[in-house]
Amino acid sequence: MGHSAAVWDHRASIEMTKDWNGIDQVVLRSPRGASARISLHGGQVVSWRNDRGEELLFTTSKAIFKSPKAMRGGISVCFPQCGSCGVLEQHGFARNKIWSIEDDPPPLNQKDSVGKSFIDLLLKPAEEDLKFWPHGFEFRLRVSLASDGNLTLVSRIRNVNGKPFSFSFAYHTHLSVSDISEVRIEGLETLDYLDNLCQRERFTEQGDAITFESEIDRVYLSSSQCVAVLDHERKRTYVMRKRGLPDVVVWNPWEKKSKAMADFGDDEYKQMLCIGAAAAEKSLTLKAGEEWMGRIELAAVPSTFCSDDLD
Ligand code: BG6
Repeated sequence: MGHSAAVWDHRASIEMTKDWNGIDQVVLRSPRGASARISLHGGQVVSWRNDRGEELLFTTSKAIFKSPKAMRGGISVCFPQCGSCGVLEQHGFARNKIWSIEDDPPPLNQKDSVGKSFIDLLLKPAEEDLKFWPHGFEFRLRVSLASDGNLTLVSRIRNVNGKPFSFSFAYHTHLSVSDISEVRIEGLETLDYLDNLCQRERFTEQGDAITFESEIDRVYLSSSQCVAVLDHERKRTYVMRKRGLPDVVVWNPWEKKSKAMADFGDDEYKQMLCIGAAAAEKSLTLKAGEEWMGRIELAAVPSTFCSDDLD
Protein backbone atom coordinates (compact mmCIF):
# COMPACT_ATOMS: atom_id res chain seq x y z
CA MET A 1 0.00 0.00 0.00
CA GLY A 2 1.29 3.47 -0.86
CA HIS A 3 0.77 6.56 1.30
CA SER A 4 0.27 10.22 0.68
CA ALA A 5 2.99 12.47 2.16
CA ALA A 6 0.88 13.40 5.19
CA VAL A 7 -0.03 9.80 5.95
CA TRP A 8 3.60 8.80 5.59
CA ASP A 9 4.52 11.14 8.46
CA HIS A 10 2.22 9.14 10.71
CA ARG A 11 3.00 5.79 9.27
CA ALA A 12 3.96 4.26 12.59
CA SER A 13 0.40 4.81 13.77
CA ILE A 14 -1.30 3.04 10.86
CA GLU A 15 -1.61 -0.71 10.48
CA MET A 16 -3.31 -2.82 7.85
CA THR A 17 -5.13 -5.96 8.85
CA LYS A 18 -7.93 -8.16 7.51
CA ASP A 19 -11.28 -9.25 8.88
CA TRP A 20 -12.36 -12.89 8.76
CA ASN A 21 -13.76 -12.45 5.26
CA GLY A 22 -10.34 -11.27 4.11
CA ILE A 23 -11.50 -7.67 3.71
CA ASP A 24 -8.87 -5.05 4.50
CA GLN A 25 -9.14 -2.99 7.65
CA VAL A 26 -7.07 0.01 8.64
CA VAL A 27 -6.19 0.60 12.29
CA LEU A 28 -5.29 4.13 13.36
CA ARG A 29 -3.57 4.65 16.71
CA SER A 30 -2.91 7.80 18.70
CA PRO A 31 0.29 8.21 20.71
CA ARG A 32 -1.71 7.87 23.98
CA GLY A 33 -3.30 4.60 22.92
CA ALA A 34 -6.69 5.54 21.45
CA SER A 35 -7.54 3.66 18.26
CA ALA A 36 -9.97 3.48 15.37
CA ARG A 37 -10.53 0.58 13.01
CA ILE A 38 -11.96 1.22 9.55
CA SER A 39 -13.18 -1.48 7.20
CA LEU A 40 -12.88 -1.08 3.46
CA HIS A 41 -16.31 -2.70 3.41
CA GLY A 42 -18.49 0.40 3.43
CA GLY A 43 -15.72 2.68 4.68
CA GLN A 44 -17.32 1.80 8.00
CA VAL A 45 -15.62 2.69 11.27
CA VAL A 46 -16.07 -0.61 13.12
CA SER A 47 -14.28 0.32 16.34
CA TRP A 48 -13.25 3.47 18.19
CA ARG A 49 -11.47 3.09 21.53
CA ASN A 50 -10.30 5.69 24.01
CA ASP A 51 -6.80 5.70 25.51
CA ARG A 52 -8.00 3.29 28.24
CA GLY A 53 -8.94 0.80 25.56
CA GLU A 54 -12.70 1.18 26.17
CA GLU A 55 -14.87 0.62 23.10
CA LEU A 56 -17.01 3.67 22.35
CA LEU A 57 -19.02 2.32 19.43
CA PHE A 58 -21.68 -0.34 19.58
CA THR A 59 -21.46 -3.43 17.38
CA THR A 60 -24.11 -6.11 17.57
CA SER A 61 -22.95 -9.50 18.79
CA LYS A 62 -25.05 -10.95 15.97
CA ALA A 63 -23.25 -9.00 13.25
CA ILE A 64 -23.27 -10.54 9.83
CA PHE A 65 -19.85 -9.66 8.46
CA LYS A 66 -20.70 -10.72 4.99
CA SER A 67 -20.69 -8.75 1.76
CA PRO A 68 -22.68 -7.07 0.45
CA LYS A 69 -24.62 -6.27 3.63
CA ALA A 70 -23.19 -3.68 6.02
CA MET A 71 -22.42 -4.85 9.54
CA ARG A 72 -24.87 -3.41 12.09
CA GLY A 73 -22.93 -1.06 14.29
CA GLY A 74 -19.97 1.32 14.21
CA ILE A 75 -20.34 4.33 11.94
CA SER A 76 -21.89 3.63 8.57
CA VAL A 77 -22.02 6.06 5.71
CA CYS A 78 -25.47 6.42 4.12
CA PHE A 79 -25.23 7.61 0.51
CA PRO A 80 -26.76 8.40 -2.01
CA GLN A 81 -29.81 8.24 0.20
CA CYS A 82 -30.59 8.30 3.87
CA GLY A 83 -33.75 6.26 4.44
CA SER A 84 -35.60 4.21 1.87
CA CYS A 85 -37.17 5.49 -1.28
CA GLY A 86 -37.38 4.26 -4.87
CA VAL A 87 -35.28 1.38 -6.16
CA LEU A 88 -32.14 2.05 -4.13
CA GLU A 89 -31.47 -0.09 -1.08
CA GLN A 90 -32.24 1.41 2.35
CA HIS A 91 -29.61 4.05 3.24
CA GLY A 92 -27.97 3.74 -0.20
CA PHE A 93 -25.27 1.50 -1.57
CA ALA A 94 -22.09 3.19 -0.25
CA ARG A 95 -22.14 1.23 3.02
CA ASN A 96 -22.35 -2.07 1.13
CA LYS A 97 -19.44 -1.48 -1.24
CA ILE A 98 -15.76 -2.21 -1.05
CA TRP A 99 -13.87 1.09 -0.96
CA SER A 100 -10.26 1.60 -2.01
CA ILE A 101 -7.45 3.42 -0.28
CA GLU A 102 -6.51 6.64 -2.03
CA ASP A 103 -2.82 7.42 -2.06
CA ASP A 104 -2.89 10.98 -3.20
CA PRO A 105 -6.23 12.69 -2.48
CA PRO A 106 -6.84 16.37 -3.25
CA PRO A 107 -5.63 18.43 -0.28
CA LEU A 108 -7.87 18.98 2.73
CA ASN A 109 -7.96 21.61 5.44
CA GLN A 110 -4.81 21.47 7.64
CA LYS A 111 -6.85 20.77 10.76
CA ASP A 112 -7.92 17.47 9.23
CA SER A 113 -4.29 16.45 8.69
CA VAL A 114 -1.73 17.92 11.05
CA GLY A 115 -1.03 15.90 14.21
CA LYS A 116 -3.52 13.18 13.28
CA SER A 117 -3.24 9.69 11.95
CA PHE A 118 -5.61 9.29 9.08
CA ILE A 119 -6.63 7.26 6.08
CA ASP A 120 -8.20 8.39 2.81
CA LEU A 121 -10.76 6.14 1.17
CA LEU A 122 -12.37 6.43 -2.23
CA LEU A 123 -15.59 5.11 -3.75
CA LYS A 124 -16.57 5.41 -7.39
CA PRO A 125 -19.71 3.89 -8.90
CA ALA A 126 -19.51 0.40 -10.32
CA GLU A 127 -21.40 -0.56 -13.51
CA GLU A 128 -24.19 -2.15 -11.47
CA ASP A 129 -24.67 1.02 -9.38
CA LEU A 130 -25.08 3.11 -12.54
CA LYS A 131 -28.06 0.97 -13.56
CA PHE A 132 -29.99 2.13 -10.47
CA TRP A 133 -28.36 5.50 -9.89
CA PRO A 134 -26.90 6.79 -13.18
CA HIS A 135 -24.61 9.51 -11.82
CA GLY A 136 -20.84 9.81 -12.02
CA PHE A 137 -19.41 10.66 -8.60
CA GLU A 138 -16.23 10.40 -6.59
CA PHE A 139 -16.73 10.00 -2.87
CA ARG A 140 -13.67 10.66 -0.73
CA LEU A 141 -13.79 9.78 2.95
CA ARG A 142 -11.05 10.74 5.36
CA VAL A 143 -11.15 9.15 8.81
CA SER A 144 -8.70 10.67 11.26
CA LEU A 145 -7.78 10.13 14.88
CA ALA A 146 -6.30 13.03 16.83
CA SER A 147 -3.75 12.67 19.65
CA ASP A 148 -6.56 13.34 22.19
CA GLY A 149 -8.53 10.42 20.74
CA ASN A 150 -11.13 12.53 18.91
CA LEU A 151 -12.41 10.91 15.76
CA THR A 152 -13.19 12.92 12.62
CA LEU A 153 -14.87 11.82 9.41
CA VAL A 154 -14.77 14.12 6.40
CA SER A 155 -16.77 13.18 3.31
CA ARG A 156 -16.24 14.91 0.02
CA ILE A 157 -18.60 14.04 -2.81
CA ARG A 158 -17.86 15.34 -6.29
CA ASN A 159 -20.05 15.34 -9.34
CA VAL A 160 -17.87 14.08 -12.19
CA ASN A 161 -20.88 13.87 -14.50
CA GLY A 162 -22.18 16.31 -17.08
CA LYS A 163 -25.56 16.60 -15.32
CA PRO A 164 -26.60 17.68 -11.83
CA PHE A 165 -27.59 15.04 -9.29
CA SER A 166 -29.27 15.08 -5.89
CA PHE A 167 -28.63 12.92 -2.85
CA SER A 168 -29.19 12.66 0.86
CA PHE A 169 -26.58 11.58 3.38
CA ALA A 170 -25.99 10.43 6.96
CA TYR A 171 -23.26 9.16 9.25
CA HIS A 172 -25.12 6.52 11.25
CA THR A 173 -23.17 6.48 14.49
CA HIS A 174 -23.99 3.61 16.83
CA LEU A 175 -22.78 4.73 20.24
CA SER A 176 -22.13 2.25 23.02
CA VAL A 177 -24.14 3.27 26.10
CA SER A 178 -24.50 1.73 29.56
CA ASP A 179 -28.30 1.64 29.53
CA ILE A 180 -30.49 3.57 27.11
CA SER A 181 -32.86 4.55 29.94
CA GLU A 182 -29.98 6.43 31.58
CA VAL A 183 -29.06 8.40 28.49
CA ARG A 184 -30.14 11.82 27.31
CA ILE A 185 -29.39 13.95 24.29
CA GLU A 186 -28.88 17.68 24.59
CA GLY A 187 -28.87 20.06 21.68
CA LEU A 188 -32.07 18.92 19.95
CA GLU A 189 -34.65 20.38 22.33
CA THR A 190 -37.28 22.72 20.81
CA LEU A 191 -36.47 21.52 17.29
CA ASP A 192 -38.93 20.21 14.75
CA TYR A 193 -38.57 16.57 13.80
CA LEU A 194 -39.97 14.13 11.27
CA ASP A 195 -41.26 11.01 12.97
CA ASN A 196 -40.59 7.90 10.91
CA LEU A 197 -42.96 5.99 13.20
CA CYS A 198 -45.81 8.32 12.05
CA GLN A 199 -45.27 8.45 8.25
CA ARG A 200 -42.71 11.23 8.65
CA GLU A 201 -45.22 13.58 10.23
CA ARG A 202 -43.63 16.78 11.54
CA PHE A 203 -43.70 17.52 15.28
CA THR A 204 -41.94 19.95 17.61
CA GLU A 205 -39.79 18.59 20.43
CA GLN A 206 -41.21 19.71 23.78
CA GLY A 207 -38.83 18.18 26.35
CA ASP A 208 -35.75 19.82 27.89
CA ALA A 209 -33.65 16.96 26.62
CA ILE A 210 -34.37 13.77 24.70
CA THR A 211 -34.70 10.70 26.92
CA PHE A 212 -35.70 7.14 26.00
CA GLU A 213 -38.51 4.90 27.13
CA SER A 214 -39.74 3.37 23.86
CA GLU A 215 -38.86 2.94 20.20
CA ILE A 216 -37.64 6.10 18.50
CA ASP A 217 -37.00 6.79 14.81
CA ARG A 218 -36.79 10.50 14.07
CA VAL A 219 -35.01 13.08 11.99
CA TYR A 220 -34.45 16.30 13.96
CA LEU A 221 -34.28 19.24 11.59
CA SER A 222 -31.70 22.02 11.33
CA SER A 223 -29.90 21.50 14.63
CA SER A 224 -26.96 23.54 15.90
CA GLN A 225 -23.49 22.26 15.08
CA CYS A 226 -23.01 20.56 18.42
CA VAL A 227 -25.05 17.78 20.01
CA ALA A 228 -24.20 15.92 23.23
CA VAL A 229 -25.17 12.43 24.41
CA LEU A 230 -24.88 12.10 28.19
CA ASP A 231 -24.50 8.64 29.69
CA HIS A 232 -25.05 9.08 33.44
CA GLU A 233 -24.14 5.59 34.52
CA ARG A 234 -20.80 5.60 32.70
CA LYS A 235 -20.22 9.26 33.52
CA ARG A 236 -19.35 9.76 29.88
CA THR A 237 -20.51 12.39 27.42
CA TYR A 238 -20.20 12.02 23.69
CA VAL A 239 -19.92 15.32 21.89
CA MET A 240 -20.67 15.41 18.19
CA ARG A 241 -19.72 18.47 16.17
CA LYS A 242 -20.93 18.61 12.60
CA ARG A 243 -20.54 20.73 9.48
CA GLY A 244 -22.56 20.63 6.27
CA LEU A 245 -25.11 18.31 7.88
CA PRO A 246 -28.17 20.16 9.17
CA ASP A 247 -30.21 17.24 10.52
CA VAL A 248 -29.79 14.58 13.21
CA VAL A 249 -31.21 11.05 12.95
CA VAL A 250 -32.07 9.42 16.30
CA TRP A 251 -32.88 5.72 16.25
CA ASN A 252 -33.40 2.97 18.79
CA PRO A 253 -35.49 -0.07 17.80
CA TRP A 254 -36.46 -0.95 21.41
CA GLU A 255 -37.63 -4.40 22.46
CA LYS A 256 -40.11 -5.57 19.84
CA LYS A 257 -38.17 -4.47 16.74
CA SER A 258 -34.91 -5.79 18.21
CA LYS A 259 -36.42 -9.24 18.38
CA ALA A 260 -37.51 -8.97 14.75
CA MET A 261 -34.02 -8.10 13.45
CA ALA A 262 -31.87 -11.10 12.49
CA ASP A 263 -28.62 -9.25 13.10
CA PHE A 264 -29.40 -7.74 16.50
CA GLY A 265 -29.55 -9.30 19.96
CA ASP A 266 -32.94 -9.21 21.74
CA ASP A 267 -31.66 -6.95 24.55
CA GLU A 268 -28.98 -5.06 22.67
CA TYR A 269 -31.18 -2.01 22.20
CA LYS A 270 -30.32 -1.17 25.81
CA GLN A 271 -26.64 -0.73 25.01
CA MET A 272 -27.01 1.23 21.78
CA LEU A 273 -28.00 4.66 20.61
CA CYS A 274 -27.86 5.40 16.91
CA ILE A 275 -27.41 9.12 16.32
CA GLY A 276 -26.56 10.38 12.90
CA ALA A 277 -25.52 13.74 11.52
CA ALA A 278 -27.44 13.93 8.25
CA ALA A 279 -28.67 15.90 5.29
CA ALA A 280 -31.97 14.07 5.24
CA GLU A 281 -34.97 16.37 4.98
CA LYS A 282 -33.83 18.35 1.95
CA SER A 283 -31.68 16.61 -0.59
CA LEU A 284 -28.43 18.21 -1.72
CA THR A 285 -27.74 18.96 -5.36
CA LEU A 286 -24.36 19.05 -7.06
CA LYS A 287 -23.92 20.57 -10.50
CA ALA A 288 -21.28 19.21 -12.88
CA GLY A 289 -17.83 19.57 -11.30
CA GLU A 290 -19.15 20.69 -7.89
CA GLU A 291 -18.10 19.16 -4.58
CA TRP A 292 -19.93 18.91 -1.25
CA MET A 293 -18.31 18.35 2.12
CA GLY A 294 -19.87 16.94 5.31
CA ARG A 295 -17.84 16.54 8.49
CA ILE A 296 -18.32 15.14 11.98
CA GLU A 297 -15.97 15.21 14.91
CA LEU A 298 -16.68 12.92 17.85
CA ALA A 299 -15.24 13.26 21.33
CA ALA A 300 -15.90 11.12 24.40
CA VAL A 301 -15.31 13.16 27.56
CA PRO A 302 -15.97 12.68 31.29
CA SER A 303 -19.49 13.84 32.23
CA THR A 304 -18.29 16.88 34.13
CA PHE A 305 -18.88 18.35 30.66
CA CYS A 306 -21.66 20.86 30.94
CA SER A 307 -24.33 21.57 28.37
CA ASP A 308 -23.35 25.26 28.51
CA ASP A 309 -20.28 24.15 26.56
CA LEU A 310 -22.46 23.44 23.53
CA ASP A 311 -21.90 26.07 20.89
C1 BG6 B 1 -32.99 4.61 10.66
C2 BG6 B 1 -34.30 4.40 9.96
O1 BG6 B 1 -32.38 5.75 10.14
O2 BG6 B 1 -32.16 3.46 10.43
C3 BG6 B 1 -34.95 3.17 10.53
O3 BG6 B 1 -35.12 5.54 10.12
C4 BG6 B 1 -34.05 1.97 10.31
O4 BG6 B 1 -36.21 2.98 9.95
C5 BG6 B 1 -32.70 2.26 10.92
O5 BG6 B 1 -34.63 0.84 10.90
C6 BG6 B 1 -31.68 1.15 10.68
O6 BG6 B 1 -31.56 0.91 9.32
P1 BG6 B 1 -30.78 -0.34 8.77
O7 BG6 B 1 -30.99 -0.31 7.27
O8 BG6 B 1 -29.34 -0.14 9.14
O9 BG6 B 1 -31.39 -1.54 9.40
